[in-house]
Amino acid sequence: MAQAPRKILVTSALPYANGSIHLGHLLEHIQTNIWTRFQKMRGHTCYSVCADDAHGTPVMLKAQELGITPEEMVDRTRAEHHQDLLDFDIDYDNYYVTHSPENKLLSETIYNRLHAAGYISTKIINQLYDPEKGMFLPDRFIKGDCPKCGAEDQNGDSCDVCSATYATTEVLNPRSVVSGATPILKDSEHYFFDLPKFSDMLQTWIKSGTVQAEMANKLQEWFEQGLQQWDISRDPPYFGFEIPNAPGKYFYVWVDAPVGYMASFLNFCEKNNVSFDEYWNADSDAELYHFIGKDITYFHCLFWPAMLEGAGYRKPTGVNIHGFVTVNGAKMSKSKGTFIKARTYLDHLNPEYLRYYFASKLNDSVTDIDLNFEDFTQKVNSDLVGKVVNIASRCASFITKKFDGKLSDNILDPALLNEFSAASDSIAQHFESRQYHHAIREIMALADKANQFIDTQAPWVTIKDPQLQQQTHDVCSMGIHMFRVLSIYLSPVLPDLSLKAQEFLNDSFVWGSAQTTLTGHSINKFKAMLQRVDSDKVAAMVDASKDHLAVTEDASKKVKATKKTEKSAKPSNQSDNDDEIAPMIQFDDFAKVDLRIAKIVSADHVEGADKLLCLQLDIGAETTRQVFAGIKSAYAPEDLAGKLTVMVANLAPRKMRFGMSEGMVLAAGPGGDELYILEPHAGAQPGMRVK
Ligand code: MSP
Ligand code: ZN
Repeated sequence: MAQAPRKILVTSALPYANGSIHLGHLLEHIQTNIWTRFQKMRGHTCYSVCADDAHGTPVMLKAQELGITPEEMVDRTRAEHHQDLLDFDIDYDNYYVTHSPENKLLSETIYNRLHAAGYISTKIINQLYDPEKGMFLPDRFIKGDCPKCGAEDQNGDSCDVCSATYATTEVLNPRSVVSGATPILKDSEHYFFDLPKFSDMLQTWIKSGTVQAEMANKLQEWFEQGLQQWDISRDPPYFGFEIPNAPGKYFYVWVDAPVGYMASFLNFCEKNNVSFDEYWNADSDAELYHFIGKDITYFHCLFWPAMLEGAGYRKPTGVNIHGFVTVNGAKMSKSKGTFIKARTYLDHLNPEYLRYYFASKLNDSVTDIDLNFEDFTQKVNSDLVGKVVNIASRCASFITKKFDGKLSDNILDPALLNEFSAASDSIAQHFESRQYHHAIREIMALADKANQFIDTQAPWVTIKDPQLQQQTHDVCSMGIHMFRVLSIYLSPVLPDLSLKAQEFLNDSFVWGSAQTTLTGHSINKFKAMLQRVDSDKVAAMVDASKDHLAVTEDASKKVKATKKTEKSAKPSNQSDNDDEIAPMIQFDDFAKVDLRIAKIVSADHVEGADKLLCLQLDIGAETTRQVFAGIKSAYAPEDLAGKLTVMVANLAPRKMRFGMSEGMVLAAGPGGDELYILEPHAGAQPGMRVK
């Protein structure tokens, strides 16, 4: 059914500029791109924009680690991200960056309007500060002993051993992950945005169908707890925009990041003579949709609409929230090779496979989506190669060889073909409502019908009978007509297959093309459209993604990158990525660590500790060293006695709830309970220095 043309602006969350695009990001970009392509095919004006999220502490530190300026790093990463996306046929109308003049201007404008309206205040707050590095430390950059159970080397805000959460100021023996220095408490003036003022407006907005019902309910809890003033400033050194009339204060990255949606669009509008105001003015009749992952809901459903409202802009029509990608049933993991980067995927497999697989699983809920490689291989091979492309390949060569490359003037089974074109509205409705899995199911049911039709008619038999030439021509033409309609419906999901089909059919598709039939039409020679998924290539991709170093990195539990700190407004345990940041050290730094071969004289359970064993270690000195190690999940005490391992012998002793811990033993593991202590080759003696 024809609809009046709509004006639609669509965004995907802006990937951080300090890491590569991976399968998790791709779920979102593919979901967005299918929707955008669908709207464009329907004849609506639909723009999609994205950008790299350039600002914040992790980006700044990563650039330092690489010895380049943040601008340089962001330029490189943006180019890499953009190319990755293009190679997946994800074609934003603009892929920009938040470190841009447009974004600076818009962020300042919004802030100035909020300020003028009285929504900004200041307050002195007291925070942990790294005196050596000269910077305030986000939670994520603080480590220390758990204030509850005493476990060493825990996060600044939570303990992996006893699962306690606490304020960074409570951490025992805190140290800065950036420099190793002991943080001090320091005062600083911060700028706050008056979020509570928007509480009523936000509740109404959220209940008006802008987010999925399940998320609207969840958001309700936040209102019940009461909204808080939002801290929007950061002190230098910080990579970001300075706040107007507040020298030495920078916008927190989450202030200018969503403004980056507007800025990317503004940059597009200027180059393409499109009216920015038509899409962003408070009285705009255009639709605005943000596609995001569930971990950043708080920012998109509270801060962002409040900022827009306060500054006199329109609010989003919808925030479309998706779940997380898991691989083979588990969180993506570097050590298992399931933390797969876009580029690694592209080195081995056709992007259309992934687009199809995600589409076949995507719905409008926030449940996680599992990429199971067996299922992936099986589904792509059976649906796309075995069903869809098969229809064309079974019919095409007869048309080319026997019927002069021309489709018949007759439609052999109009009722059947009509079933295909009549599915248009229902499939469109599934795409529109992001129930892609229903769309795919309906398309595949039609593909089954087409194949049954061809099986029954058996043109490869009738072609041999001179009496049945017309019938064979009609049958093969029917096959091609049905293939054509399926290709039209699959176009938003499989742009490359769609292009090949259009070339083969000598046609150009819009959504309404499904209502026409190419009787008497000349088509081109059929060329292979899609190869089967080769499971060896899947295995090779997983192998290429295995980061053997990650095993030790996971175990030493260095600070997990961006997620927690930069999103700390609401705790989220959804962080997918075990990306690690470790500052580069000089040899002198390494030489400070006194590593020794230690003999485990005895190992004992510790009363009241779930994860710890108490080890007595012989390092060739007159007395043994006592060390509490979090390895109980992996070893029984009796298996350890007598073994040699490696310990850090000059770690300052720490008082734990269970007694003094005088050092640390080294162990590796993929994270979780799986752990392996290090053991030297035969011949090493207790007390030998490791260098
Ligand atoms: N820079 C912010 C977004 C700012 S938007 C104004 C950010 N960046 S991110 O790179 O960490 O994530 C970008 C998007 O990818 C988010 O929507 C996030 O939910 C999504 N995903 C990251 N890992 C994911 C999975 N494993 N699975 C699905 N989506 C995931 O957040
Ligand atoms: Zn603890």
